[in-house]
Amino acid sequence: MGKSTIRIGLLGMGTVGTGVVRLLTAHRADLERKAGAKLELARVAVKDASKPRDVDLPKGMITEDAVSVLRDPSIDLIVELIGGLMPARMYVMEAIKAKKHIVTANKALLAEHWAEIVGAARANGVEVYFEGAVGGGIPIIQSLSEGLAANRIEAIFGIVNGTSNYILTRMDKDGKTFPEALKEAQKKGYAEADPALDVGGGDAAHKLTVLTSLAFETTVPFASVHVEGIEDLTPQDFVWAREEFGYVVKLLAIAKQEEGKLEVRVHPALLPETHLLADVDGAYNAIYVVGDAVGATMFYGLGAGQMPTASAVVSDILYVARSIAYDVAGRAGWGPFGDIPHTPVNLPVRPMEELTCRYYLRLSAMDQPGVLSAIAKILADHRVSIAAVVQKERSKGDKVPVVILTYEALEKDMQEARRQIESLPAVKGKIVLLRVERGE
Ligand code: NDP
Ligand code: HSE
Repeated sequence: MGKSTIRIGLLGMGTVGTGVVRLLTAHRADLERKAGAKLELARVAVKDASKPRDVDLPKGMITEDAVSVLRDPSIDLIVELIGGLMPARMYVMEAIKAKKHIVTANKALLAEHWAEIVGAARANGVEVYFEGAVGGGIPIIQSLSEGLAANRIEAIFGIVNGTSNYILTRMDKDGKTFPEALKEAQKKGYAEADPALDVGGGDAAHKLTVLTSLAFETTVPFASVHVEGIEDLTPQDFVWAREEFGYVVKLLAIAKQEEGKLEVRVHPALLPETHLLADVDGAYNAIYVVGDAVGATMFYGLGAGQMPTASAVVSDILYVARSIAYDVAGRAGWGPFGDIPHTPVNLPVRPMEELTCRYYLRLSAMDQPGVLSAIAKILADHRVSIAAVVQKERSKGDKVPVVILTYEALEKDMQEARRQIESLPAVKGKIVLLRVERGE
C-alpha cells in the first residue's frame, strides 16, 4: 500500500539543511503534485537547539535528540545533512536498519563506507539517494546511473570542489592571496567544517570515489585514491602556465579505465586553455564524462552553496517520496547503485608510479653557472626529456625561479629525479610538480 503523506526527519539544519527547509516550504504545492503525496517535515535534529535559525519552524519540531527522530515509527525518510563520519554513520546505519529510506549529501560517509551502506540498504530493502554529495546542484548522480546507463564509461575528469576552484580563480584572476580567498569561500558557505578537506583535495577525492564506484560499477577503496591539494600553488604559477605554455591550473579529479585497471587521482593539473573545463571558474563545478557510445559529455553548475545543494537534496526527497507514495520504494533498486544481483567488477587501481604524463616543475635555484645543466643531467639520467625551460630574472636575493615543462615521462622516474634535484645544494626548498592533462 502506498502512502498519501510522507513524513520526513531532517538531521542537520546548517547551510544545506536550511536550504532544504526553504525549498520544501517555498515549492510545497509543486513538490507535492510531483510526488503524488503530501510532504510533511516531521522533526529536525540539530546539535544546538537554542541557536537562532534563518527559517521559522513550529515550536517543538527542533530537537537535539537525533536518535528519537530515527526511532520515530511515523517517519518514512531520513535526510542526513550533518556531515562527517561520526555520528552521521551511526545515524544512517540505524535508520537503514529501521527500514527508513535515506537522502544524504555526505560524500565523506559514502566514500569511506560505501560497501557497508550499499550492503545495508540492500539487506533492508531501503533506498539511499545522494545527488547532493557530488557537484552540488549538478544532477551528475542521476546522469551516471540512468542517463548514461547504456554506456561503458571510459573516463571522468571533474572539477568537483567549489571551495578550491573558488580559491584558484580568485588567485588567478583577482590576485587574491590563498588565505584571503579561503576566508571568502568559507563566508559564502562553500567550505567543509574542516576546510583542510577542501584545499588538501580530500573532499574532491571523496566525490571521485563515489563517482568512480558508480560509473565503473566497482568499489573503490578511498585509501587507493591518490590525493594532492592546492596548498603549494602561487599566483605566479597561473601566470607562467598561461603565458609561457598556454595552460590553466585546476584541481582535477580524474578516473580512467584502461586495460582493466583504474586510475583514480586528485591533484592540481595543467589543462589546455582551450579545454571546456578551463573556463569553469569560482564555485562552479563541471564533470566531463566520456562514454563509449555517447562520446564526451559535460555537466556544469554550482558545485557548492545553500540553494544549489538543496536543489539536489530536494530532488532526491521527491524521488524517494514518489516511490513510497506509489508503493515501489526499494522494489526496483536501492538507489543509484542499482539492484541485486549485482556483481561488482572490483577493478584494480593502477599504482601512481605507473602513470605516464608531461610535467611542469617550478623550483628556486641559485643564479650560478652550471645549475641548469646539473638539473638537466638529473632529468636526462631518469629518461625525462625537457620540452621548455624558463628562467626568470632575479627579483631579490641571489635565487631565481626556474620553470620546466617536460615531455611524457614515467611518474616513478619523475619523482626520483625530483628528489635528486631537491638535494642539489644550489636548489632551494621544495619543487612544485604539476601534471599536465589533455583531459580527453
Ligand atoms: P553545516 O556545518 O552548515 O551544518 C551541519 C548541521 O548539522 C548543523 O545544523 C549542526 O547543528 C548539525 N549537527 C552537527 N552535529 C550534530 C549532531 N551530533 N546531531 C544533530 N545535528 C548535528 O554543514 P553543511 O550544511 O554545509 O553540510 C552538510 C552536509 O552537506 C555535509 O555532508 C557536507 O559535506 C554536504 N555538502 C555541503 C555543501 C555546501 O556547499 N555547504 C555542498 C554539498 C554537500 P547546529 O546547527 O546546531 O550547529
Ligand atoms: N566543500 C564542498 C565544496 C561543498 O567546496 O565543493 C560541496 O560539496
